[in-house]
Amino acid sequence: MKGIVLAGGTGSRLFPLTKITNKHLLPIYDRPMIYYPIQTLVDAGIRDILIVTGGRNSGDFLRLLGNGKHFGLAHINYTYQEGEGGIADALALAEHFADNQKICVVLGDNIIERDIREAADRFHNQPYGAHILLKRVPDAERFGVAEVAGDCVIGIEEKPTIPKSNYAVTGIYMYDSTVFEKIKVLVPSGRGELEITDVNNAYIREGTMTFSFLEGWWTDAGTFDSLLRASNLVAQSAARTQPAPLPDKLSRGEGATA
Ligand code: G1P
Repeated sequence: MKGIVLAGGTGSRLFPLTKITNKHLLPIYDRPMIYYPIQTLVDAGIRDILIVTGGRNSGDFLRLLGNGKHFGLAHINYTYQEGEGGIADALALAEHFADNQKICVVLGDNIIERDIREAADRFHNQPYGAHILLKRVPDAERFGVAEVAGDCVIGIEEKPTIPKSNYAVTGIYMYDSTVFEKIKVLVPSGRGELEITDVNNAYIREGTMTFSFLEGWWTDAGTFDSLLRASNLVAQSAARTQPAPLPDKLSRGEGATA
């Protein structure tokens, strides 16, 4: 399976932070935002990765990520989204890269605590169709919201005023190669974009969409509140996993009286 990180868009909800840089280059605790979705793919065993960027700062991604050495990769692929056509429009640019293989798409502002290896392995064994990861949230109206009946997702609504469930559709999607045909027949939504929710509903209509629940915390980082929450969650996780400094090291640290 190949991996795609979508890192375009204007990031208008984070203006003026995004006036002079791309949202996905902003810091989340101790790393640029884009490091996290790339790590999500690498942790799922995916080594062939495409970054879709856009806007005026796309060259900065190349300077930051290079050939992906930081992630143990031999190389990273890049492509450029012209304009603001939405998530599905950005994904359409990956058709040549995907080369008829299955793909795992991660939105560049989606950050997770654990990994998606189990879902990726499951989708690997699914002959065709798509797989999405859901997460129970208190503010479902901010997201695509899945209506679930037993083992099936029966529909997804994009940012509904009155959500039919509290299951957010996270920005991690696994698709077979028919995704590109599905994108080609989409029509722009009310906000003038090709919506990823319409792609997912096309799979639901044909009865080939499966889902699982994401373990651990999940957040997006596209608003001031979620950007702060993402940094706090990452910092808390780092504090839990890093051993406390030794007393000896502390006594020689900055500000210590000699
Ligand atoms: C996008 C999708 C939405 C999904 C969310 C996850 O929303 O349209 O369905 O739940 O990402 O982060 P956006 O944040 O781009 O408005």
